[in-house]
Amino acid sequence: MPPSFDGHTRQALPRFSVINDDPKERENVYTFFYNWGKEALRILVPGGHMFIASTPLLSDILSSAMRKAGFERRGEIIRTVSTLRGGDRPKGSETEFSDVSVIPKGMWEPWGLYRKPISEKTVAENLRKWHAGALRRESADSPFCDLIVSQKTPKIEREIAPHPSIKPQSFLRKLVFASLPLGEGVILDPFAGSGSTLAAAEFCNLDSIGVEKDREFYLMAANSIPRLAELYPMQLSFIQQKGKKAE
Ligand SMILES: C[S@@+](CC[C@H](N)C(=O)[O-])C[C@H]1O[C@@H](n2cnc3c(N)ncnc32)[C@H](O)[C@@H]1O
Repeated sequence: MPPSFDGHTRQALPRFSVINDDPKERENVYTFFYNWGKEALRILVPGGHMFIASTPLLSDILSSAMRKAGFERRGEIIRTVSTLRGGDRPKGSETEFSDVSVIPKGMWEPWGLYRKPISEKTVAENLRKWHAGALRRESADSPFCDLIVSQKTPKIEREIAPHPSIKPQSFLRKLVFASLPLGEGVILDPFAGSGSTLAAAEFCNLDSIGVEKDREFYLMAANSIPRLAELYPMQLSFIQQKGKKAE
């Protein structure tokens, strides 16, 4: 239920808490992700990973739907970021309960991490056969970590690609790099929006495909991908050292 796209107009906040309170809406979310998860499972290679942006109020539903669809839950990435969620006083009684907030102010976003089950006996065998099944390390001493300190998408990126939910390059570059453990394969963003994931893949010199149904966003992405990809050429030194394939 994001702001002002997919045919929705921006709703009064809180959007996610409304869904959370309504059993029918929760069922709709479950059914959507179950059906979608089945399709995703069909096209991923064995051991392929998927990151899905969520919200603390609904990530449990996403998780049970993805498990039912056949995925393994492999944890959750915490993206620290100040959100518009929570922190409000009781509606209509703000003065009476001025020292109270109904739910915590959201300071993080959960990104569910799911894996299509491996087809081989061990992860090593799966890596040899499918180049998938694990996550790429940042360096010999640093595995990919599930806490990523992030921030609002910088102004320069929002100006290049004025999409209502564009995610920052600094964050996406980390996810994209981790997704292909041997730096081989293709990254798919089925909800490509501004093209930010594809730009991050371009930065890492990895192959990627995006799908976007909105023509305006599609055209925006075509224009933005190379421009986002060339921002901050020295960002994340481990990508400089390991990410780039031989030209
Ligand atoms: C949350 S946004 C993605 C934002 C993106 N991660 C970024 O950083 O710009 C979701 C996008 O999915 C697109 N979308 C929604 N349903 C779709 C569908 N069925 N097929 C393809 N794209 C779809 C929307 O138009 C929207 O641009």
